[in-house]
Amino acid sequence: MTSRAPLSRKLSAIAESATLKVDAKAKALQAAGRPVISYAAGEPDFATPSFIVDAAAKALQDPKNYRYTPAAGLPVLREAIAAKTRRDSGLEVAPSQVIVTNGGKQSVYQAFQTVVNPGDEVLLPAPYWTTYPEAIELADGTPVEVFAGADQDYKVTVAQLEAARTDKTTVLVFVSPSNPTGSVYTPEETAEIGRWALEHGIWIITDEIYQNLTYEGARAVSIVEAVPELAEQTILVNGVAKTYAMTGWRVGWMVGPADAMKLAGNLQSHLTSNVNNIAQLAAAEALNGPQDEAEQFRLAFDRRRKLIVSELSKIEGVQVPNPLGAFYVYPDVQGLLNRSWDGVTPTTSLELADLILEKAEVAVVPGEAFGPSGYLRLSYALGDDQLLEGIQRLQRLFA
Ligand SMILES: Cc1ncc(COP(=O)(O)O)c(C=O)c1O
Repeated sequence: MTSRAPLSRKLSAIAESATLKVDAKAKALQAAGRPVISYAAGEPDFATPSFIVDAAAKALQDPKNYRYTPAAGLPVLREAIAAKTRRDSGLEVAPSQVIVTNGGKQSVYQAFQTVVNPGDEVLLPAPYWTTYPEAIELADGTPVEVFAGADQDYKVTVAQLEAARTDKTTVLVFVSPSNPTGSVYTPEETAEIGRWALEHGIWIITDEIYQNLTYEGARAVSIVEAVPELAEQTILVNGVAKTYAMTGWRVGWMVGPADAMKLAGNLQSHLTSNVNNIAQLAAAEALNGPQDEAEQFRLAFDRRRKLIVSELSKIEGVQVPNPLGAFYVYPDVQGLLNRSWDGVTPTTSLELADLILEKAEVAVVPGEAFGPSGYLRLSYALGDDQLLEGIQRLQRLFA
């Protein structure tokens, strides 16, 4: 008998999402009765606002929502997204330039598929969200990491980007506020990077999924608002998941120049077709309806952010830049490595995260999931009491 033909080499090289893996491990331990406190999840712990849920319930009663609808999205939602893009990203777009996707994640995938050709180099500021390198490689591109450490608030400079640029560079990934670091580029930094990309004809894929979650008066100015001439070479990615506590509804979108959106729409017409109509109508309500509950979520995150930053900073050997966006802190924990804690000597943040889970029953995601070792990501999207209790466990472990 001849042996079976091989599996896809391309997919065999893709790793499972590390953040989902840590979260799953924490949930399994919780299910087994261990009192694990998890800072691993990248999702708000609130219920979706009831007026959004009501819109979905109403949509469920309408038989026209039981049918296929246009692959690129329902007109009412595409219009709501165009208005939101104008409002929050300062970019004037027609609804035809919007494609509704199954979460922002599908937009990330489709954006790279749309602009990357085999062998293209994609500049990826690190620490980066764990999905980007895989999505770049699935598009036959080569991710080129540009690392910025805690000393520069995890934000890359134009000088670093320029040093990494070659004649194969065609795309830059720009994410502000960032997952995993929570860093927000200032309007000046954003404009400087935007002008550099414009000068070199480089596409920008800008992931704005956390744009409404900023603190201390910071505003994450969209790179197309900072440099309007970039409109023809920028794809914006966004979604309702993080702002409206709608992670499970799976509604995101991409916005970009008409020719690029045409290609992305063609791809989507073969890949997934339309996103669930009920979820789309709920998302339209989220964008068009009152924003005060979303603002309450933001205020709760801000309170937790201050608490976690101040408590983590009390641990010697941990450096905690003050994150101005998203719902993550990204401490530099190199000062905890190569020292003995409760009989264990971690040499990497991966080993440190294992030690923390084992000894303190606290789940955190190691920096290896987002770039170099030496860091931990903690999401503060969990209840205030748990939030404090978990950090106190770390304070005791590293006392
Ligand atoms: C930076 C970033 N972009 C996009 C997404 C995708 O979000 P979703 O697919 O849930 O809309 C996430 C989710 O964790 C994220 O952190």
